[in-house]
Amino acid sequence: MIKKGIILAGGHGTRMSPLTKAVNKQLLPIYDKPLIYYPLSVLMLAGIKDILIIVNKGQLHQFRKVLSDGSRFGVKIRYLEQTYPRGLPDAFILGEKFIGKDNVSLILGDNFFYAQSLTKKLKDCIKLSSGCKVLLHPVNSPELYGVAVINKKKKVLQLKEKPKQSKSNLAVTGLYFFDNKVVEYSKSLKPSKRKEIEIIDLLNKYRKKNKLKAEFLGRGGAWLDTGSISDFYNTSSFVSALENRQGLKIACLEEIAFNYNWINKKQIVDAIKFYGNCLYSQYLKKILR
Ligand code: DAU
Repeated sequence: MIKKGIILAGGHGTRMSPLTKAVNKQLLPIYDKPLIYYPLSVLMLAGIKDILIIVNKGQLHQFRKVLSDGSRFGVKIRYLEQTYPRGLPDAFILGEKFIGKDNVSLILGDNFFYAQSLTKKLKDCIKLSSGCKVLLHPVNSPELYGVAVINKKKKVLQLKEKPKQSKSNLAVTGLYFFDNKVVEYSKSLKPSKRKEIEIIDLLNKYRKKNKLKAEFLGRGGAWLDTGSISDFYNTSSFVSALENRQGLKIACLEEIAFNYNWINKKQIVDAIKFYGNCLYSQYLKKILR
């Protein structure tokens, strides 16, 4: 069972400069809340309460202002700084102490998930006891992502990072579930041509040992990665359309915590005070009623 999760929220956000010159990308808005709320909500929906957020050097105070230690929404958040973007598996090297002897999940700070039965899928994924699990989803431009080739039995035959040409349109999304070997395997990775240690190389270690399983978000699900400015606007429009139509918020952290009985009504009242007079607070007031 996986009880710990890491959010990798560093990087320079170069593609979004000058927006990211003073503010970390993961704190920029996706419609009505900071981007980090969305990956954090995914870990919370999975039932994960012990969370490490890795941020880039000098920006930790920005995250603390928004998320603090997580108690506002019933989780425990710890933070670590990454000196430079060394690659995604660095999360497990930096996070070694946090992980200890446990299994762990990783979500990239710029990934957005929305799908029917997502919670059920997540709860299945955290049951992992050995090996690793990835979530695959079709995309129009596989050359921008890690890509998986699978056979009819949905076994992963090949994994490649940003292949120029690909036989498959199945991207490896930025949500991963690992057993404890991930720390040792990450330490043994060598930097690639782009001078980063690569998550695909890590996943291939598991695949070669027959220890990698693929799960699918399903056709009705949305997976968006918010790497560029237009991605930010597209994802914001998606959230705005759904929230305004349904009157239900996506990734309202206090609502998730309240539904899981991690926080009580008094804590919702405190959260309303924290946010002040805004639409998010009005939504929290609706939950109280
Ligand atoms: O979004 C899914 C894709 O994410 C996967 O399909 C790819 O296999 C995987 O390599 C990754 O590709 P990206 O090119 O999108 O990764 P990027 O360098 O943009 O980093 C993703 C997030 O992680 C971003 O919010 C910045 C953060 N990051 C990245 C690196 C390399 C860090 O915090 N530290 C790092 O060292």
